[in-house]
Amino acid sequence: MYKSVLINKENSINEKILKKISLIEILNINKEKTLIEKKTYEAYLELADFFKTKDIILGIDSAYRSIEQQLQIYNEFVDQYNKEYANEIVAPGGKSEHHTGLAIDLNILINGNWQKNNKELLKLEAEFSEISKYLHKFGFILRYPKGKEKITGYPYEPWHIRYVGKVIAKVIHDNTWTLEEYKEKFNGIIAINKKQGMTSFDVVREISHIFGLKKVGHTGTLDPLAEGVLLVAIGKATKIVELLTAEDKEYIATAKLGLKTDTYDITGKVLNTKPLPIDKNLQKVFDSFQKTYLQEVPIYSAIKVKGKKLYDYARDNQEVELPKKQVKIKEIELLNSTTETFKFRTLVSKGTYIRSLINDIGESMDTYATMTSLIRTKQGNVDIENTFTIEDVKNNNYKIYNVDEILNFPIETVDKNLEFKISNGQKIDNIWKVTDKIIFKNTDNKLLGIYDLEGQKLKVWKNFN
Ligand code: DAL
Ligand code: ZN
Repeated sequence: MYKSVLINKENSINEKILKKISLIEILNINKEKTLIEKKTYEAYLELADFFKTKDIILGIDSAYRSIEQQLQIYNEFVDQYNKEYANEIVAPGGKSEHHTGLAIDLNILINGNWQKNNKELLKLEAEFSEISKYLHKFGFILRYPKGKEKITGYPYEPWHIRYVGKVIAKVIHDNTWTLEEYKEKFNGIIAINKKQGMTSFDVVREISHIFGLKKVGHTGTLDPLAEGVLLVAIGKATKIVELLTAEDKEYIATAKLGLKTDTYDITGKVLNTKPLPIDKNLQKVFDSFQKTYLQEVPIYSAIKVKGKKLYDYARDNQEVELPKKQVKIKEIELLNSTTETFKFRTLVSKGTYIRSLINDIGESMDTYATMTSLIRTKQGNVDIENTFTIEDVKNNNYKIYNVDEILNFPIETVDKNLEFKISNGQKIDNIWKVTDKIIFKNTDNKLLGIYDLEGQKLKVWKNFN
């Protein structure tokens, strides 16, 4: 997470971050011992090699600085220039990115000489313009770009680059953002293809780590045994997690007959066996399961009864009445079967447990049935073909959906007058005659909020302002 750490005039360095960073010693262009964060240096070496092929020779002027070193630089700037310039360009002690070792002040060798000061560096417009085009490919951003002085708090510094890793750097580059803007604005939904063995929370943790953002949530738990579509919301998009969780889901599952386990799947402890059904028409059983029914929640689930999770009752060997929930099996199709196994595809409503469905199918045949594999092939409109593995995301091979792209609600672009009301969460007239929810954007395509019908009016459901 330290890769995305924001240090600026409002955010100081702290011990917690420093503990996570490992610094290594290198020599700067003046042959002085300098510390730098390890991954930052590795990325820098690749960057420098790349520019060598373009006849631009890079060097490191400064990387890590202690608070004392930062104060010393401030004093040097006061002596060399004046107090005004020093205040403008040198961060106060404790508030410089250089304290992390993730920032580098570059220098460029011209005719065998390094540039002596900022003034000389600022003259190398062509070189720095070329450099800024490629920084993101090596995991760097230009931290103090032109035109963003009010956001970063510093004037344009073409030499000061910051390591954030290739994924974050690409987002910042593609949006022409600063790190401040990235942390505040980046949001959306990524459709992950979860691998077997991972918990849904493992996926959340990985995505949070890759993007260096804390606000990440998944929609609709997939057990470790299960794989397939897991929609993961990032940033402000976490506000719609409940809507995505409520969407229909499609699965392909396999099951084994004659076996009952405590978890209703093959990872559980075998509780009982029964003979296989003879002469049972599996197709007929499946046809009768396309229905709405009360499904008992499995004991190995995180559903709470009297404030306690069901699996904790199981672990504590404590009796508990399992709640029943209405589920809708919208489509169910037997794909193939043997005397002791079957495979099927099904489309179900929110909250349906496929391992319970399999258990119910088994019971209806006077035997047991246990889930042996499960693939979620669809959630809402997102098909498994359009998902990405965690590795894909790490390699910058992913698509992020905007909130309005993934939801099936009407979208309206509103004028300044309505934008003001919506941004303030005021009730508005239902001039669009919506019957459920509606998404509002402003003329800059910025998501303002989602509204819900309440009587004759529209009432704010989620404010994105
Ligand atoms: N020049 C940058 C802002 C620093 O001193 O960290
Ligand atoms: Zn710097």
